[in-house]
Amino acid sequence: MKEIAEELNKKFLGKNAEEVLEYFLNEYEGRIALSSSLSIEDQVLTDMICRIKPGSRIFTLDTGRLFPETYSLIDKTNMRYGIKIEVFFPDCNSIQKMVNENGINLFYESMEKRKQCCYIRKIEPLKRAFRGLKVWICGLRREQSVTRQDMQVVEWDEGNGLLKLNPLIDWSEQEVWDYIKNNSVPYNKLHENNYPSIGCQPCTRQVQEGEDIRSGRWWWESPEHKECGLHRR
Ligand code: ADX
Ligand code: SF4
Repeated sequence: MKEIAEELNKKFLGKNAEEVLEYFLNEYEGRIALSSSLSIEDQVLTDMICRIKPGSRIFTLDTGRLFPETYSLIDKTNMRYGIKIEVFFPDCNSIQKMVNENGINLFYESMEKRKQCCYIRKIEPLKRAFRGLKVWICGLRREQSVTRQDMQVVEWDEGNGLLKLNPLIDWSEQEVWDYIKNNSVPYNKLHENNYPSIGCQPCTRQVQEGEDIRSGRWWWESPEHKECGLHRR
């Protein structure tokens, strides 16, 4: 399967995001979905997907700790495109046990506890969202992080047994914003208030002028650890 991903990368060398999406949305109809965090990248992909193949699956993982602005954006996006973003929730018993044993804000205590929370609130629901899928579309960009430097448009996700598609992998932040503005794509209002990258509310803070775009995510951890496990390679 790794070889298939390599072949596909060769095939799509020099092609733009829409061309890549069009091929995959048609080729894997019914077995492909965008996992959206409502980030600017995911909003660009939602806009493209709704133009290219309306009715394609788009889902989000509601960790229960998102910003109110992110919840508003789910509604706004649904209205704008006439869609219903599917929402996956964490398992009620697991979360209850975790919180009652370790506290509501356990993630600040250690990386182990932070990863436990990310596992229960994101990874396990993601695995449920993957059922029946062959391809998952993500909004990753190389520029975002040291951990994403060598990612390709098409990757074989060994852990989940899926092809992972990153149509915006080469895009700069400016290109993403240009697309958003030129196409009047709805976006999270927090971006206008120094939140370039938005995840869960307790694990995201504003960045200062000149700071890295992901420096406000899990700000108490070092850059090479700033992954919740969704994009482990
Ligand atoms: S994270 O691993 O640090 O949280 P990031 O916020 O950069 O990820 O988002 C990268 C991609 O992961 C998004 O474009 C999206 O495809 C997926 N993703 C992240 N968070 C979620 C979420 N809550 N629901 C669905 N997809 C998500
Ligand atoms: Fe929990 Fe923070 Fe991970 Fe959200 S980002 S799942 S609140 S540790």
